[in-house]
Amino acid sequence: LVLVLCLSAAEDFDWTKNNHGSFYYGTFPTGFSWGAGSSAYQTEGAWDQDGKGLSIWDVFSHKKGKVFFNDTGDSSCESYYKVKEDISLIKELKLNHYRFSISWPRIIPTGIKSDHVNEKGIEYYDSLIDSLLENDITPIVTLYHWDLPQLLQDKYGGWQNVSMINYFNEFANLCFERFGNRVKYWITFNNPWAVAVEGYETGEHAPGLKLRGTGAYRAAHHIIKAHAKVWHTYDTHWRSKQNGMVGISLAGDWGEPVDITNQKDIEAAERYVQFYMGWFATPIFHGDYPQVMKEFVGRKSAQQGLGTSRLPTFSSQERSYIKGTCDFLGIGHFTTRYITQKSYPTGRGGAYFTDRDVAELVDPRWPDPGSEWLYAVPWGFRRLLNFVKTQYGNPDIYITENGVSEKMMCTELCDDWRIQYFKEYINEMLKAIKDGVNVKGYTAWSLLDKFEWDEGYSERFGLYYVDFRNHKKPRYPKASVQFYKRIISANGFPS
Ligand code: NOJ
Repeated sequence: LVLVLCLSAAEDFDWTKNNHGSFYYGTFPTGFSWGAGSSAYQTEGAWDQDGKGLSIWDVFSHKKGKVFFNDTGDSSCESYYKVKEDISLIKELKLNHYRFSISWPRIIPTGIKSDHVNEKGIEYYDSLIDSLLENDITPIVTLYHWDLPQLLQDKYGGWQNVSMINYFNEFANLCFERFGNRVKYWITFNNPWAVAVEGYETGEHAPGLKLRGTGAYRAAHHIIKAHAKVWHTYDTHWRSKQNGMVGISLAGDWGEPVDITNQKDIEAAERYVQFYMGWFATPIFHGDYPQVMKEFVGRKSAQQGLGTSRLPTFSSQERSYIKGTCDFLGIGHFTTRYITQKSYPTGRGGAYFTDRDVAELVDPRWPDPGSEWLYAVPWGFRRLLNFVKTQYGNPDIYITENGVSEKMMCTELCDDWRIQYFKEYINEMLKAIKDGVNVKGYTAWSLLDKFEWDEGYSERFGLYYVDFRNHKKPRYPKASVQFYKRIISANGFPS
């Protein structure tokens, strides 16, 4: 039945058209790490089991009208109960690493460590980590993949409040203490851009606030400081004993000037990237916000009659404390936009998007996306990676997310759309490595179909199909499993 649905979504599109170079046959450096990823709220389920506290996503998804179809992550893939089964899928793929996140309220129900530590939650992550290691799979662990304890939201306003920095640091320190003898790769935050903008500016994500013009900048400011603090905690107290690494995972979609001969377009595309990945990467690698963000938000704030910029500032002490707090850079990359300049009238500005003065366009030849925002543009990946190399001093990079959701008509097991996407994107990553970019590992997003935030279960990113209608949540390999497995065993594309 499933094979009948095997329509080639990409058949009529020439994926190499914009690729600026043909397919590159070659292999990845020895030791390159292949993986797949997930996150706690998106896959674990067991939202109220074994002493877990509420997260902002539990509460947000239970409100009507916030998530497509009013879906929730209450049970999702039930990965909380399926450690063995999920490990067998990971083994089937012969992955070198598995990326997952720890749910803060599962191990500290209120978010405040001195209140209570939930040993049952610790046991769950212990068993996941131990099973991975027994099977020679390296855990890459994210500390914050968006599920803030609800109490910290209610009591303090979540990331609007400076006190989150200490609470998060205590949580991170507990994780280092309890898991750090076995976990050597830590990611402080996953995609803080989305936390800030979608959580506090547009309100599409939990906690669903629309603090236009200020909320995102404040949240990001505290997140950057919290990241730096956690890195220093590790560096000072744990590194010599545990010998691991602490990084951050940033969303890095690419912005290409519409007209590369037009200076205004070039500058607009630069702004797009600086307001996106640069917002976080520039402080972490260079100590302060990108110059162009300071200029644009500062000028707009002045035009709006505000005495000071809506973009907070770091003191010189903070700048040196934050600079260099990254042992590796995680990048979640999915898509690209064409960018041109667009000026917004004063007064109507004030929100993050209008502060940038850019318009985002897509090429009508790009294949229809499975997700509304996700156009497959492989060559943008190589450009982004080269940009990171030159802007941030050629850091070690782990691709922490890259993948595609299915087109509506191709939702079952025969996902040639995804195969094509992986093939082209992984090939562009290989070209970037040949360009001298230090990519050390790649994480396909995602291992399983799962709860896709405000899109609920309507977007399937998994290598494995999950039947959510069946309460046992069975997993079935899609065709991309075999394909990805071949890339892994050949370590690339040998000629
Ligand atoms: C980035 C997020 O980190 C991840 O949780 C999500 O599934 C993907 N984007 C796809 O939208």
